[in-house]
Amino acid sequence: MGRPGDIALNQRDLMVGASAAVALAATPAGAGAGAAPVGTDKPVTAKVSLTVNGQRREVELDTRTSLLDAAREHLHLTGSKKGCDHGQCGACTMIVDGRRINACLTLAVMHQGSEITTIEGLGQPEALHPMQAAFVKHDGYQCGYCTPGQICSGVAVLAEIKAGIPSHVTADLEAAPQVTEAEIRERMSGNICRCGAYSNIVEAMTEVAGRPA
Ligand code: FES
Ligand code: FES
Repeated sequence: MGRPGDIALNQRDLMVGASAAVALAATPAGAGAGAAPVGTDKPVTAKVSLTVNGQRREVELDTRTSLLDAAREHLHLTGSKKGCDHGQCGACTMIVDGRRINACLTLAVMHQGSEITTIEGLGQPEALHPMQAAFVKHDGYQCGYCTPGQICSGVAVLAEIKAGIPSHVTADLEAAPQVTEAEIRERMSGNICRCGAYSNIVEAMTEVAGRPA
């Protein structure tokens, strides 16, 4: 049986050992002498050049800024809406280099040189895009919060069908997909409307596609 002093020494050894283990676990992989201190709160910024609605725009922003926040907070284009900020509702949909994306899920710095179309770039009250006009005609909205994303998505969906891109419900993958209600509903399933204007949205898109509503 050891003396009390032996026990105290062993406890100190354990404490030192545990502290060293915690410090090692907190060190980022690959960090060595000269690495930036962990936990610095100084934001890293970068200049980004984007073509938004046909205009070249340059912004300097925190590299963690989403494309949605870049548009809304830095370019003051507030048409694109933030519904969930988690890629679940589609309210933030923009058309980037011809493809619709959830702007809340992508960083602005990833789009250096990209061509971006937001709802403001599709049309304006005095010169509506055909999809905007069809939404008005068919009451494709109630509160309107999801509508900018729905319209951007709708425009891109018709372009996807025209380009022959199949969807989950396209039965014949070798034939050109058609603008059917099933195709529209499937392709628009990422755009949620809490007001439930879905059937009117389908009517609006069907009319724009040139088929009887
Ligand atoms: S705000 Fe981007 S998907 Fe909901
Ligand atoms: S119109 Fe209200 S959420 Fe779609």
